[in-house]
Amino acid sequence: MKKTIIVFLAIMMSVGLLAACGSTEKANKKSGDKKVLVMATSADYPPFEYVETGKSDEIKGFDVDLAKAIAKNLGYKVEIKDMDFSGLVQSLKSGQADFVLAGMTPTEKRKKNVDFSDIYYTAQHLVVSKKDSGIEKVEDLKGKTVGVQLGSIQEGKAEEINKQVPIKIENRNRIPDLIQEIKSGRFDAAIIEDTVAKGYFEKEQDFKGFTISDDPKEAGSAIAFPKNSDLTEKFNKELKKMKENGELQKLVVKWFGGEE
Ligand code: ARG
Repeated sequence: MKKTIIVFLAIMMSVGLLAACGSTEKANKKSGDKKVLVMATSADYPPFEYVETGKSDEIKGFDVDLAKAIAKNLGYKVEIKDMDFSGLVQSLKSGQADFVLAGMTPTEKRKKNVDFSDIYYTAQHLVVSKKDSGIEKVEDLKGKTVGVQLGSIQEGKAEEINKQVPIKIENRNRIPDLIQEIKSGRFDAAIIEDTVAKGYFEKEQDFKGFTISDDPKEAGSAIAFPKNSDLTEKFNKELKKMKENGELQKLVVKWFGGEE
């Protein structure tokens, strides 16, 4: 009698063990073929990436569509992490993200820390101020307070201007904060990319701007990856395909307007 109970228990235990093994294997497989890539961005940059406040907390925009289209073709899903622009390069270095799509310009300085895809969109710097600011050209910025996003190339542009005419440079983490500071009169102007600034002009009727860069590639955007990531080439190939088959242009029209 005792023996049968022991045998019975032994059988039950091994069945249990087998079942347990089976289920972990299944679970691993499941998460294995989900294949999620983490994209880091700074969602303060409409129409590249932004949250429509009051509607939902979903991050959307040109960069989000581009990331999803490329990832889908490669068999990945995308998970988005929102952070300050100045923390994006570090997020790649520390392995917190697989790539960055944030209207980021592939500068020589950044290339020391991360790799970039080809440029997918070009833009120019704009000096934004109130219509009655009297700021029409770079020289008019003399002695003025000029805002820029922390860690952006616009910050570098402001430093360049400062060598020509002395200005007071102020930085903020988020683009809407720059707009707010101009509205409140704390900043006389801000340097913002034209595509992004244009969106704000629609809302802020008393704002204006003028272009300061002559080379449109100067503020171009590319996808950033950790150094030597095998994703760089894969993404770049898909990006090229999208340039050739018109998919990229479709996204440009959807988010930036203009001709198809
Ligand atoms: N293109 C500029 C740069 O790379 C500004 C990009 C800002 N992007 C953003 N999501 N806030 O420095």
